[in-house]
Amino acid sequence: MNDAIVKLEIDQRAVEVNQWIEYSANKLVRLRDRVLGALHLGGRKAAYDDEAYEFVGGASDSLRRKHYDKSLRLLWKAENEAPFLPFHDASPVERNMFELALRSMTDDERQARERLSLPAFRAFLDQTYTLRQKRAIVAILAAIGHGEAYAWLVSADLLNQVKSTGGRAALTMQVLEEAKHFVVLRELLQAFQVPIPRQSAWEYLLLEGVYKAPGTEKLFGMNVLVESIALSFFGLMSEMPGLEVLRLFHLDEARHTGLPGNYLAEFPLTRFQRWNPAARLRRLGLILPALALIPALEGEMAELGIDAFEFGGSVIRKVGVLAERSGFALPMANDKLFPALNRLFNAYCKRTRKGHQARDFFASETTVGERQLAVEREVFARAVSPS
Ligand SMILES: [Fe+2]
Ligand SMILES: [Fe+2]
Repeated sequence: MNDAIVKLEIDQRAVEVNQWIEYSANKLVRLRDRVLGALHLGGRKAAYDDEAYEFVGGASDSLRRKHYDKSLRLLWKAENEAPFLPFHDASPVERNMFELALRSMTDDERQARERLSLPAFRAFLDQTYTLRQKRAIVAILAAIGHGEAYAWLVSADLLNQVKSTGGRAALTMQVLEEAKHFVVLRELLQAFQVPIPRQSAWEYLLLEGVYKAPGTEKLFGMNVLVESIALSFFGLMSEMPGLEVLRLFHLDEARHTGLPGNYLAEFPLTRFQRWNPAARLRRLGLILPALALIPALEGEMAELGIDAFEFGGSVIRKVGVLAERSGFALPMANDKLFPALNRLFNAYCKRTRKGHQARDFFASETTVGERQLAVEREVFARAVSPS
């Protein structure tokens, strides 16, 4: 018993009257909002069920574990991972832990994470890449940088559209991670000291289309399509000197591409949402500008020794597999879509490349790095090239 707590005497009758007033007011406001809600005239705005102490949709603990808990477990700090950038986001304990971890790293890893200053990092980039190569890296990554801005906008929007406590917890972490991706990538690209290009018309069409897509269709546009593109770019470039921090972006994006499958397993799309022709066409309408990006980036990618069509085949295969798995039907099934697009890629290459031999671009895998490939195997078990 706690003797420090001394109960005060109050008017018991007043307590009862107040309880009765609150009880009646509660009945009234909730009835009013139920009626307004039924008439589509407003009603309760929050999709929150205070009686169950859950958001509408329930707890969804497995979503919370797979996305919120895992995100926090894998949360990384720019100050440790890219110490040459101007971030102070690590606590003293995290900084000390990181210093200890540095000692057990391989020479390569240690070199990449040494506490370089920003001028030293810029000098390192100048020694490692020609000006033309720096421009190419920035042009390619800027496409993703603008995509990160939209990922931040769209995930914040989706946060208020998903059901359940676990669903909201998952999206909350995505908002945080997209914010981090945007600001960290922006600083990284600025360190290259070359002009950062605007969005191309194709990125503009793609990302505006995703932002404007209705409801859970945003999960297709963002988490399936744009995230697969981002994942593939990070998988392609995160082994390049100076870009090692992109491995962590890659890891985050892998989790984001897994979200539609996990979320829709608990809150499935209706048959109509999956299959109606307008939705399937709208999805294709988002994929088209992504396809136009492939030849648009061909020149920049070639500067770095990367075949844009190999990359495109690798990305679109991943998009197709994820779309099919989460139930977002396209106008054509993958076994028809991939060969049709492959014929289109080959026709373009035949016209533009000397001595081009027809090949299967959809069998290519452009992600490099053991860890990156292992991360993708987990997401795209059926998508990774068999060879
Ligand atoms: Fe991102
Ligand atoms: Fe993402």
